[in-house]
Amino acid sequence: MNRQDYIEANKDRFLSELIDLLKIPSVSADSAFANDTLKAAEFVKESLLKAGVDSAEVIPTRGYPVVYGEKIIDPSLPTILVYGHYDVQPATPYELWTTPPFEPAIRDGKLYARGACDDKGQMYMHVKAFETMVQTNTLSCNVKFMIEGEEEVGSTNLGPFCIENRERLKADMVLISDTSMIANDTPSIDVGLRGLSYVEVEVTGPNRDLHSGVYGGAVANPINILAKMIASLHDENNRITVEGFYENVLEVSANDRNAMAQTPFDLNEFKKDLEVDEVWGETGYSTIERTGIRPTLDVNGIWGGYTGEGAKTVLPSKAHAKISMRLVPNQSSEEITEKFTRHFEKIAPAGVTVKITPHHGGEPVLTPTDSIEFKAASMAMEKTFDKAPIPTRGGGSIPIVALFEKELGLKSVLFGFGLDSDALHSPNEHYGLFNFYKGIETIPYFYEYYNELKK
Ligand code: BES
Ligand code: MN
Ligand code: MN
Repeated sequence: MNRQDYIEANKDRFLSELIDLLKIPSVSADSAFANDTLKAAEFVKESLLKAGVDSAEVIPTRGYPVVYGEKIIDPSLPTILVYGHYDVQPATPYELWTTPPFEPAIRDGKLYARGACDDKGQMYMHVKAFETMVQTNTLSCNVKFMIEGEEEVGSTNLGPFCIENRERLKADMVLISDTSMIANDTPSIDVGLRGLSYVEVEVTGPNRDLHSGVYGGAVANPINILAKMIASLHDENNRITVEGFYENVLEVSANDRNAMAQTPFDLNEFKKDLEVDEVWGETGYSTIERTGIRPTLDVNGIWGGYTGEGAKTVLPSKAHAKISMRLVPNQSSEEITEKFTRHFEKIAPAGVTVKITPHHGGEPVLTPTDSIEFKAASMAMEKTFDKAPIPTRGGGSIPIVALFEKELGLKSVLFGFGLDSDALHSPNEHYGLFNFYKGIETIPYFYEYYNELKK
């Protein structure tokens, strides 16, 4: 049987297996889901074994385990390390979902569930593509699977895992499906990812909550102060005011910016999809530049004081915010966290104190387009989409990609089949069935072309 026939004959089972995986609420950020997260790891291990790996195990780390499995058919063939993650983002607020996040449902040719695209759906394409190659005797590379459970919380234990398992993880490259493409009729491959620096800030005023009439107007209100401090982090051109923030930013050449300007992108569609009447961002850059090649600073959450029902007249003692900064080459996550800390402490007025707590981070990456790896990926997509993919810059972060290069000396290919509109991290996340099956069809061509080009 050829691959296409095998996929056709088994497509319903492929989908129902993915649905079973999506029913497991493996939310890594929330310890209430710890058992489910471990259950998802077991599920992935079993699915690798059923798909035909020689061996698979759930390897403990200080956090959630790494699922590892491999099939070595011939040591002289290239070895592909497939990376993905079985953990998902929290699905709150539940009430905004049309159908519950962990009860997968199909509507209009799309599968709705938390993790449908990011990353269970995309990761599972690799398992099924592998099964297809094994069953049709067309596996042309050795393969090692490394599926982690802490991507959505910064992959803090995966760096050490890679260092401790260097020998086992020896490979020629890393293949990852955890990014998006432009559209179903416009394939693209991300050749860059942004880095991340994430901090939590706390502003403290008086030592206790106060009556806002008795004391209001006489002491600094930490929420008022925090709001003002945050507002000052962007100037009138929406550039970030943190001292030295842009210092190491790699300026993109006019040539590359011109090439980016050719990328299909419909600003009106973009606005319509988000129901905003105007876009926002750094003066002098287009929307795709703002998300692709420029660093940003955004408040992700802000709280303090009374937020319950009705009105309580209270002047709060503390105010809090969580702030993310997306970084581009050659910014460093640690350096930016330091610069932010220094700046935020400096702009705090007398009458309050500030505390800054860094969270996880990650370094930005650029992947080459003149490599065999990129070429094989490009040829594979061209084969199944009838169109050569366009190189693009992804705005999101996958912290481990920079570490693959640093610690294992491996380049990655960001072989994503999702769409930005799949509502990753949002209510009603979904993944097109078209995308799921297209990925399963395309991945084996990557193996085939990579093996040929490596000869
Ligand atoms: N798969 C995403 C990253 C992504 C999505 C890259 C779309 C490019 C296009 C990944 O799961 C993710 O959400 N990463 C986090 C990293 C963080 C939690 C350390 C992110 O970007 O916020
Ligand atoms: Mn992901
Ligand atoms: Mn994610």
